[in-house]
Amino acid sequence: MSAGRSERPQVAAARRVGVTDERVLAAMAAVPRERFVPPAARSEADLDRPLRIGSNQTTSQPSLIATMLQALRLTGTERVLEVGTGFGYQAALLAHLVAEVVTVERHALLADRARGNLVAVGLAHVTVLVGDGTLGAPEYAPFDAITVAAAAPAVPPALAEQLAPGGRLVAPIGPRGQQVVVVYEYRDGQLVVVERLTAVRFVPLVSDGPDRLGRDR
Ligand SMILES: C[S@@+](CC[C@H](N)C(=O)[O-])C[C@H]1O[C@@H](n2cnc3c(N)ncnc32)[C@H](O)[C@@H]1O
Repeated sequence: MSAGRSERPQVAAARRVGVTDERVLAAMAAVPRERFVPPAARSEADLDRPLRIGSNQTTSQPSLIATMLQALRLTGTERVLEVGTGFGYQAALLAHLVAEVVTVERHALLADRARGNLVAVGLAHVTVLVGDGTLGAPEYAPFDAITVAAAAPAVPPALAEQLAPGGRLVAPIGPRGQQVVVVYEYRDGQLVVVERLTAVRFVPLVSDGPDRLGRDR
């Protein structure tokens, strides 16, 4: 696809930050972001920045989502887990990129909204679960790739265990103010860092279980 006047702003934003994967750009072109934000934020949906979605959460900046998706090197056959569904925007992009998408959100209200948004754009086949995504989704594992949309000090062990050999995981890692998006590959039973992408500011990954990773603000 070439840059043109009718190009969706999210595609242009992704190109600007160096995204060249044509499949990722095509997914950005296919998903109307305005359908994945609350009605009051629709007029801002074309801005390349995070937007509030309620429950003290945000939907991420589209160019950053595109960068993280590109890092997963998806080809179309994969089963992918997303941790942190929000309003479902990234899940919708994934649905255009891979064979199967499972996404976990800890706020039931957001998961409900995401489900509704996905159905409304014809993506009812995405599996939206409510729960603590730090535990992954063992009943659907293994995954060829995992993307984490909230920041943690380290990758929750359950997520590494649910990756297929050679699978990639991308996540914002580090304390508030020092988060970096890190790309890992699962090799010989362990996660190996393959790339550190960019400094970011994500909402915290909140664990409700005994290994609490963070606390809701
Ligand atoms: C940046 S927002 C989601 C962005 C979204 N993926 C998008 O497409 O824009 C991060 C989400 O992670 C969720 N979250 C935080 N901790 C979680 C956990 N342990 N399990 C599942 N979801 C979690 C938050 O409720 C929030 O909706």
